[in-house]
Amino acid sequence: METKIGIFDSGIGGLSVLSACVKRLPALRYLYLGDNFRAPYGSRPKEEIARFTESALLRFRRLGVSAAVLACNTATAVCLEEMRSKFPFPILGTEPAVLPAAKRGGEILVLCTPRTAESARLNALIARCRGASFTVAPCPGLAAAIENRFVRGEPFSLAELLPAGEYGGVVLGCTHYALIGREISAFYGAPVYDGAEGIARRLSAVLAPRTVDGGWSENGNINKSLPQKGSRGGEANVRFLGKTAKINREVFKQTF
Ligand code: DGL
Repeated sequence: METKIGIFDSGIGGLSVLSACVKRLPALRYLYLGDNFRAPYGSRPKEEIARFTESALLRFRRLGVSAAVLACNTATAVCLEEMRSKFPFPILGTEPAVLPAAKRGGEILVLCTPRTAESARLNALIARCRGASFTVAPCPGLAAAIENRFVRGEPFSLAELLPAGEYGGVVLGCTHYALIGREISAFYGAPVYDGAEGIARRLSAVLAPRTVDGGWSENGNINKSLPQKGSRGGEANVRFLGKTAKINREVFKQTF
């Protein structure tokens, strides 16, 4: 029987995770559900985020997935444990890549949504890191601006949406930000860290425990999971679900 993996995000952000998973595990079938009409989630009440996430997972369950990925730091911060208690299949979350960023040391900026910034999960993760100091910056308008640029072609200025400052590394703590990871890296003149490759590795481990091939990337440069020209592939294995399937398919094809 074919192995189906459900990947969920509030919108196009999870496409960065989908891309990393397709590259690492191209033989699997993927169902992608991006809730673009209701994006952004990042400032919504927690109950609402949990309700939207549960409805996506119910859909994945009906479609017979073997595992699901919350390709959304916000949903992970708000309701990963709750969802794990409700569904029979493994559910992987997405967390800001503070652990690999901490390895480079120095001043690290963590960009994320307001809900992720205030979460106990992120704060516990940062507390485990030694040798680096972290500034957590909620960016309330950034995910929506990225969604609007990719979906509707509306431009925006990074200088208006990002905090100023000098940092040695920047954690992309929202999957939407990976879509403009190179721009964010150029804005700060610093390497960026996102969790997409780590998720693909964990998915591989969950599906076939013996194929685990290590922990987080040590790579201090721009992550390979960011959009790369000419690296497309695997779209045939992806089914895009929901009313905005067409939007997500197009952005995936054009970006990854
Ligand atoms: N892409 C999501 C995340 O990783 C959510 C962004 C949003 O909808 O605000 O947090």
